[in-house]
Amino acid sequence: MTSLKFFLFLLITIFISHSVSADEWPTIELAGIDLSAAKRIQIEKDPVYKTAKEYEAIPLAQVLSQFSKTDLAAKDSVVVFVAKDGYSVSMALADAMSEHGYIAFRDTEAPSGQKWLTFKFGKETTTPAPFYLVWPTQGLDKWRYPWPFQLASISLQPASTYFGAAAPAKKTDAIRTGFNLFSTYCIRCHSVNLSGGQVGPELNIPKNITEYFIEAELAGFILNAPAYRSGTKMPSFEKILDRQKAEAIVNYLKHMKNEKAGTK
Ligand code: HEC
Repeated sequence: MTSLKFFLFLLITIFISHSVSADEWPTIELAGIDLSAAKRIQIEKDPVYKTAKEYEAIPLAQVLSQFSKTDLAAKDSVVVFVAKDGYSVSMALADAMSEHGYIAFRDTEAPSGQKWLTFKFGKETTTPAPFYLVWPTQGLDKWRYPWPFQLASISLQPASTYFGAAAPAKKTDAIRTGFNLFSTYCIRCHSVNLSGGQVGPELNIPKNITEYFIEAELAGFILNAPAYRSGTKMPSFEKILDRQKAEAIVNYLKHMKNEKAGTK
């Protein structure tokens, strides 16, 4: 597999276990959104089509502004993008508001009468219909700014709901920072308290990773696992995270030793 496919595979197919119930959290059904303010946006290199693209799209911020001010002000909420098959991916609300994301609904190269062109996804041939989240700004970190397609709705959920028992109950700034990083870069592959992905090992149950891993090496391993283990399935984060961020993740992981939940 090329790294890109691997990357997309991660984004779209791993961590997403639960489907979102529309009436439980504030939810915007994309089928009902107003497309009259649409504009054409250009993407230098689309990760799905692997080429330059132009879409008709509306600003993500405009879509999110349909949530109430109270919902948008809630601390520790994440924006959850739900695909029509129930798969979902989340991102930090601050990230969703800070960069120029767009909800694309038509490929300008599509033949008349059609909205999208097909692309290959694994063995399937598919399209991003009905909606696709895209980021025209070049060079954004794709872990923080995901490109989910076939979107049906967007909801705002408390991290403790979306990430379950992996979300810390204790919320100091340091623990919150560490968990935000963990939920952005790690949880799609790793569970904590049995909540999260299953590509990599569980990191808290029954033993916390800091209870058996040399703690001083942990940040180094997180930054660059291939420098420790040849053939590891864990990607290097050296170009994305720095030591301070890796230490913040270690701090969160170590804290979770005090919040063990679930058994195995
Ligand atoms: C693409 C999936 C993937 C992502 C993303 C990922 N890991 Fe891993 N990680 C793995 C796999 C798989 C292993 C164990 C087997 C191996 O080395 O291939 C592993 C091993 C580890 C280990 C060592 C545990 C052990 O007993 O082997 C730690 C600690 C760890 N990961 C932390 C993290 C942290 C923190 C992040 C986020 C910055 C992260 N991982 C992101 C897949 C991933």
